[in-house]
Amino acid sequence: MDSGGFKIGIFDSGKGGLSIVQALKKLSQQSGNELDIDFFADTNHFPYGTKTKEELEQIIRHNIHSLVQRGARCIIVACNTASIAGRHIYPKLEQELKIPILRVAESINKNHQSNRIMVIGTNFTILSSYYQDKLKKTPETALVSFSFLPLADAIENEDQDAIEKHLQTVKKYIEEYTCDAVLLGCTHYSLIHEKFRSLLPAVTIMDPSWETARLFINQVLPQIIATDSHPEPAS
Ligand code: DGL
Repeated sequence: MDSGGFKIGIFDSGKGGLSIVQALKKLSQQSGNELDIDFFADTNHFPYGTKTKEELEQIIRHNIHSLVQRGARCIIVACNTASIAGRHIYPKLEQELKIPILRVAESINKNHQSNRIMVIGTNFTILSSYYQDKLKKTPETALVSFSFLPLADAIENEDQDAIEKHLQTVKKYIEEYTCDAVLLGCTHYSLIHEKFRSLLPAVTIMDPSWETARLFINQVLPQIIATDSHPEPAS
């Protein structure tokens, strides 16, 4: 399936959102098709993770309006921080602009089998407690959470030494707290998914970027195309 002539607008504060772009391309290529993607890396506002909800809401509104003006007919918020900070304004924006807006933090798989999960993300994401609340399946599910903004920074700046150093800290915490899973609560971390996998072979890597790409290809896109080819009759 291709995107049916749809331009998909995607944004993040920087390179992190490319994790979703790459996953979307991989999944769509598997079915032999191409997507029309307009990716906006909002590096002027990097990092999002230290901003207030009000600042982020303003940035989100601006980015979505710009992408729509550039022709996007659906939006993917490829940033956990922006997904969480703007969660009260997305329904209104969807109505106002008449487009679907998929947010990476929504794609979380709550049916996990893990008992001790470490959530890592930006300051905003960790302080919001969004993922900690969503992942707590039973009172026995133990969650620890850490803000790892410097890791996002190292990934944005492609500073390999700093990336390795921060990954060793993640590993140390995982061992110290005997976690069996880690949730990559920042799309920048998803860009180095393979590094997490080889560093922590016995740990489940929960990656909302991949979940978002799957959700988009399997559910959201077919719905958009079906609605578009059978528009509501004019009253
Ligand atoms: N990629 C963003 C996220 O998923 C975080 C980076 C930032 O703080 O700007 O939350």
